[in-house]
Amino acid sequence: MIKNIMTGYREGTVLMKPILEVRNLTKIYEGGVLANHEVNFSVEEGEIHALVGENGAGKSTLMKMLYGMESVTSGQIFLRGEEVHFSSSRDAIDHGIGMVHQHFMLVDSLTGAENMMLGVEHLPFVVNKKSDVQITEDIARQYNFEIDATRRVRDMSVGMKQKLEILKILYRGAKIIILDEPTAVLTPQETEELFDRLIGLKKKGMTIIFISHKLKEVKQISDRITVLKSGHTEGTYRTDEVTEEDISRLMVGRVISFDYDKKELHPDKELLRVENLHYRDKFEVSKLNGVSFALKDKEILGIAGVDGNGQSELISIITAGIRCSQGNVYLKGKDVTHDSIGEIRKTGLAYIPEDRMYDGCAETMSVAENLVVSNIDSFANRLKVINTKKMREHCIQLIKEYKVKTPSEKQKIKSLSGGNIQKAIVAREFSSGSDVLILDQPTRGVDIGAISFIHSKILSMREAGKGILLISADLNELLSLSDRILVMHKGNIVAELDNRKKEVSEKELGLYMLGIKTQEGMGK
Ligand SMILES: Nc1ncnc2c1ncn2[C@@H]1O[C@H](COP(=O)(O)OP(=O)(O)O)[C@@H](O)[C@H]1O
Ligand SMILES: [Mg+2]
Repeated sequence: MIKNIMTGYREGTVLMKPILEVRNLTKIYEGGVLANHEVNFSVEEGEIHALVGENGAGKSTLMKMLYGMESVTSGQIFLRGEEVHFSSSRDAIDHGIGMVHQHFMLVDSLTGAENMMLGVEHLPFVVNKKSDVQITEDIARQYNFEIDATRRVRDMSVGMKQKLEILKILYRGAKIIILDEPTAVLTPQETEELFDRLIGLKKKGMTIIFISHKLKEVKQISDRITVLKSGHTEGTYRTDEVTEEDISRLMVGRVISFDYDKKELHPDKELLRVENLHYRDKFEVSKLNGVSFALKDKEILGIAGVDGNGQSELISIITAGIRCSQGNVYLKGKDVTHDSIGEIRKTGLAYIPEDRMYDGCAETMSVAENLVVSNIDSFANRLKVINTKKMREHCIQLIKEYKVKTPSEKQKIKSLSGGNIQKAIVAREFSSGSDVLILDQPTRGVDIGAISFIHSKILSMREAGKGILLISADLNELLSLSDRILVMHKGNIVAELDNRKKEVSEKELGLYMLGIKTQEGMGK
């Protein structure tokens, strides 16, 4: 069986001296959420230590305590054997701990160099010697991170922003670097690049804590792995002694495979068509340059692309969030280009937005209210009186069918975990009877159990004859679900790939996503 070296450590087995250690760390958030419960965890100097666990397992919370961003409820943190108490991230930085968050914390309107220097006080005698740009370029060269120090952050690729974030903490003297899901936003090629750099940092003696959902990556990059489950440590393992299946089982208690058996279906009806869509943003930057495609029944059409290549604009246009400057959208043959989202929904479109807390649900309302909010009319009689009994039964049935974990249908939705909020939104949209489903990152930030459940529901919608447009940053998800995949790059569709036999590879997708390859006759 696999060896949990943490238990070994408790029994006194020899281990190198940890640079960072936490003992019985507990975090209870205001409102009583027990996010970390007596967590024990230790990191050795110079290792890449992966932290894995389902969504909501408490990984970010643990890291935020190590980084001084969240207070500790009880327990201890030791740095090089000395107990430390951080009251702010400043404290943590002063102790050589830096963190790059899931969502970057850069100022969009400033340049790389300006972001680099933000909050750093210049020593008076250094000020005139070197410009901020020179300092930034020097440090970038030192760590072999190419960035354009004079470019504004808003014009940088996601990969460059991330490099800048890492450089920022290196410049502030970090020796222990915490990366919270750094690869979630990267293409496979950018991920490889990041890994090369992390190995470079490790060679320079840095210690890295790497959080990821992607077990393949964790296997590739880490020396040891700690598994968190429901706020406590399941164990710490040497990466070369565990398989992906082992880790996955430790995280959720079962193995989840993304290798679905998809029924062969024969689409024969066009449900959604976009024709020659153009869009310019408020800075007159062209975001869509004539995008056309059609979605049929019984098919899942995936859209791949690095964030920021026109996917969000495309979805916003179809769902009436923004207006295209040219082109048309047809839903079941009807021109809906100028219709409101309400009208479009009535014509037959359901939509799961990317940001579920912002667009997807009404935070302060109950689970039940959220489940019916978009089809409340169907519970009203001719006099517009709502049949509350029928509505309640419908909700209870949906909660059961979609396995939404909630104490009752009256619970406020915001108190549920991310995965369960998402299941509730999926339940609402999938039960709306619409023929076209637009799913924008339907499983982003959701735990593996909920992912496989949502996937099975997506596949059953396909069998029920729906047309599904799936936008996802998770290539594994796109490849395992889609019948066809469109790749977007700089506002164009640069490839259309037939994936019915699952022959498309991640690498191939990556080449199109980065614009290294364009299919003949596609794009510009
Ligand atoms: N600021 C907060 N207030 C209350 N609860 C929170 C807060 N941040 C996270 N939680 C809860 O703590 C638990 C652990 O969350 P988190 O540390 O973000 O997990 P992970 O990073 O592993 O997904 C979850 O149940 C989450 O809903
Ligand atoms: Mg997290």
